[in-house]
Amino acid sequence: MTETTLRATLTPVSSTTRVLECATDEIGEVAAGVVATAIAARSMGVLGVATGSSPLALYDALVRHRGAGLRTDALRLFALDEYVGLDAADPRSYAAYVRSMIAGPLGIPNDLVHVPSGSTDADGAIYERIIAEAGGVDLQIVGIGRNGHIGFNEPGSDAGTRTRVVELDQSTRRANAEHFDGDLAQVPTHAMSQGVATILAARRIVLVASGAAKAPALRAALLGPVTPGNPASFLQLHPDVTVVADHDALRENR
Ligand code: F6R
Repeated sequence: MTETTLRATLTPVSSTTRVLECATDEIGEVAAGVVATAIAARSMGVLGVATGSSPLALYDALVRHRGAGLRTDALRLFALDEYVGLDAADPRSYAAYVRSMIAGPLGIPNDLVHVPSGSTDADGAIYERIIAEAGGVDLQIVGIGRNGHIGFNEPGSDAGTRTRVVELDQSTRRANAEHFDGDLAQVPTHAMSQGVATILAARRIVLVASGAAKAPALRAALLGPVTPGNPASFLQLHPDVTVVADHDALRENR
């Protein structure tokens, strides 16, 4: 499947960022095409994975690539973040998401799956070391929060941040309350998140976004000043970013 048949259009934003604009129901295939091509180019790869709703269609499409012969079971996975206080066995944890939505369907064994855990910055430093020992992340998938967060690097996070404990914005907790019976009080207040510097250290980054609610943050990320006020804007500093987004998410970029 090619970008042309998917009607994706290529919009140059900066010399290092390309934007593949497509219909909402094509995002998964377009983004998975980028990821699958990268996987196929290596016998063993390190894939950074986001959780949340944005990349779900990408993972589904990647599973179809696996069905068509793409070797995914040797991938090593590193998740971006995890709620502090949720056990990996908790179905609302990102560890559970990574197991059930990504690792399981892609045939990746548990010992190749890494999700941040713990509740101290020292735990974050351990996670950084494991990433480094794996040789770093080849391709990092990210979503974007309505406030411009990547990972759980909320506004105010600077370019030098590494994996650490972060306090979640109220807006982020509200956005994620749907996974906690709609009850804000159940949403953890803190998370362990890769930092901006951790994310930028990946060799390639693929950002997926859909819907009008993401448009202001995405516009600021792509075209605005590079500032901790919109942590996704730091992606402008990265040499190899691909944005796969639908018309609504990109509508403010025209
Ligand atoms: C998830 C993550 C977050 C989400 C962002 C968008 O691991 O790091 O940055 O990507 O909150 O979430 P969705 O895709 O659910 O809108």
